[in-house]
Amino acid sequence: MRTQVGIVGAGPAGLMLSHLLHLSGIESVVLEAHTRQYVEERVRAGVLEQGTVDLLVETGVGARLKRQGLLHNGIKLSFGGKRHRIDFQDLTPGRTITVYAQQEVIKDLIQARLDAGGEIHFEVSDVRLDGLDTAAPAIHFRNSRGEQKIACDFLAGCDGTYGVSRDSIPARELEVFERAYPFAWLGILAEAPPASEEPIYSHHERGFALFSMRSPQITRLYLQCAPDEDLAQWPDARIWDELCTRHAATDGWKPAVGPILQKSVIGMRSMVAEPMQFGRLFLAGDAAHVVPPTGAKGMNLAIADVRVLARALAEFYASGRKDLLDQYSATCLRRVWKVQRFSWWMTSMLHRFDTENGFDHRRQLAELDYVTGSRAASMSLAENYVGLPMEGLLAL
Ligand code: FAD
Ligand code: DHB
Repeated sequence: MRTQVGIVGAGPAGLMLSHLLHLSGIESVVLEAHTRQYVEERVRAGVLEQGTVDLLVETGVGARLKRQGLLHNGIKLSFGGKRHRIDFQDLTPGRTITVYAQQEVIKDLIQARLDAGGEIHFEVSDVRLDGLDTAAPAIHFRNSRGEQKIACDFLAGCDGTYGVSRDSIPARELEVFERAYPFAWLGILAEAPPASEEPIYSHHERGFALFSMRSPQITRLYLQCAPDEDLAQWPDARIWDELCTRHAATDGWKPAVGPILQKSVIGMRSMVAEPMQFGRLFLAGDAAHVVPPTGAKGMNLAIADVRVLARALAEFYASGRKDLLDQYSATCLRRVWKVQRFSWWMTSMLHRFDTENGFDHRRQLAELDYVTGSRAASMSLAENYVGLPMEGLLAL
């Protein structure tokens, strides 16, 4: 087999890259370890920045998103028993976020690729990358017909945190920057109508809680918990009690209760691997960087990376210019580090740390008071939340 760009991973990064390349007349093949059903049902992120929504709509995969996505003009922050609104419309101005589940984006992209005759191989195993620093890189893998090889011009490692692409780069060529957090999130999907139109981030003595949603019938909730939290200790009644306690404020608001459809523990980590390129292999999305979920940046960053990569590859195939490909890593990293900073900051401001003392606790409350009380500070939160501009792209 032969293709122009071999893509490992059918997550948001890999599928969006394949879609954008197709629109520029560039062939690609996507390899995915799981089944189509698995990737289309995997519950993960759900908040899309304005730039992500615009890209999906402009490239023809936004019809369902426009019909079913829930537009939000702000978020609420709760602390010290009071709730405060950050108004994106007013502060950004006119920019918003849209709640639309990651697995719905995946379904739309898979359908678009298959309708356009795109090649996605599900349930592949033993993926191995080869010839990365030569002009003839290749991907080896196994499927139901046996050992396969795809000769490529370029490879895109879009295989998430635990994929094979990043590890295919010699360790001496990569510098990995990491931060671990001493807590995780208990993620809950419930069949209950969202009782608030906008996400609510609550700082509480018992730990952080987040209220979000997926549709007019489905609520998405998170509770700060231990990294090794035992789900068996969280019967549904305890989950609702804890959510009501942590979200309590003087306005008396409570989440609507309903059957819990799914619970899982989501790890929290910050990681950046530099550079995001080695020879003809380009890393994108979680394969190159991971953010803690506070602020909902993971999927948006993955899409931003492949936007830069698709543009650079299109330029290469159109004119032979290699400079945009050479600048890929630097272009992405400039924005990646700003988003890392924001995700780390939101996480640090809202969670309880087991190492914190009275000083740290009061400083956190002062920070929340400042963020909600100062227009300049609210604006900084808002412009990061709706998505920083794609500066790198403007320079291309
Ligand atoms: P992924 O979506 O991880 O896609 C990578 C794909 O590569 C996967 O389909 C994987 O099966 C495939 N793959 C891996 N290895 C191989 C291999 N060797 N061969 C072939 N295919 C391979 N963000 C939020 O904002 N809110 C959340 O609640 C939230 N929950 C999350 C829960 C989990 C468990 C995880 C991992 C992430 C979550 N995120 C969340 C973050 C967000 O979902 C990710 O940032 C986003 O999925 C990144 O997209 P990606 O395409 O880079 O990687
Ligand atoms: C969601 C996830 C987040 O990390 C966040 O900050 C807000 C909302 C969500 O999954 O809906």
